Amino acid sequence: MSKKLDLAFGTVETSREIGQFEMFLHAHPGSYASVGHTRWVEEVCVPGVKAGEREAVAWWQADDMVGDAVVRAVGPDRAELKNFRVLPIYSSENWKVKGAGTFMMQQVFGVACSLLDAQKMITSQADRVTLQLDITANNPAVDFFRRQGFNPYGQADLYQPGRPELLMSREIELV
Ligand SMILES: CC(C)(COP(=O)(O)OP(=O)(O)OC[C@H]1O[C@@H](n2cnc3c(N)ncnc32)[C@H](O)[C@@H]1OP(=O)(O)O)[C@@H](O)C(=O)NCCC(=O)NCCS
Repeated sequence: MSKKLDLAFGTVETSREIGQFEMFLHAHPGSYASVGHTRWVEEVCVPGVKAGEREAVAWWQADDMVGDAVVRAVGPDRAELKNFRVLPIYSSENWKVKGAGTFMMQQVFGVACSLLDAQKMITSQADRVTLQLDITANNPAVDFFRRQGFNPYGQADLYQPGRPELLMSREIELV
């Protein structure tokens, strides 16, 4: 029996991939209120990816999108990660793939540096850049981001009054 996983990782570029990405975002609002999430997807994220202001990366298994991440520059030497998500990925024998989230995060680090470089947002003396994210404070995935080297630097009610988002960041060394 074949043990191939048929996994592919890459940037979201063609109009077909952008369409698939938009559907994936709509299908996985996470803890975000549906009206706000829909507005962010349709008015901010997808237009930003089409305009090249944001970079979207994704995992596919066969033809299905199973993970995504969105990166943009937010200042000199500083990028923001949004909507990092990897669905559970299973082989045809039904064993769960371990390490997909970690692998995708490693790719995100490279994407963040390339995007800042392409947008001339790396200052001449910098030997590292900062990647920031926000995540609902009680989301169990906070532990995953801690394991990926992100540390909390504050919290704020970004999306819903009374529901704090944890602000986390880590540095990435430029190579
Ligand atoms: C968190 C997430 C990326 C993990 O994906 P994954 O493919 O299981 O990750 P990995 O297999 O690389 O796991 C890496 C480590 O983190 C741990 N981990 C994974 N998910 C975790 C979770 N929810 N809580 C705590 N630890 C977790 C794993 O056990 C593993 O530990 P190990 O290295 O000691 O074995 C995935 O479950 C996800 O996308 N969740 C939703 C994230 C989200 O809410 N995004 C929106 C805000 S940005």
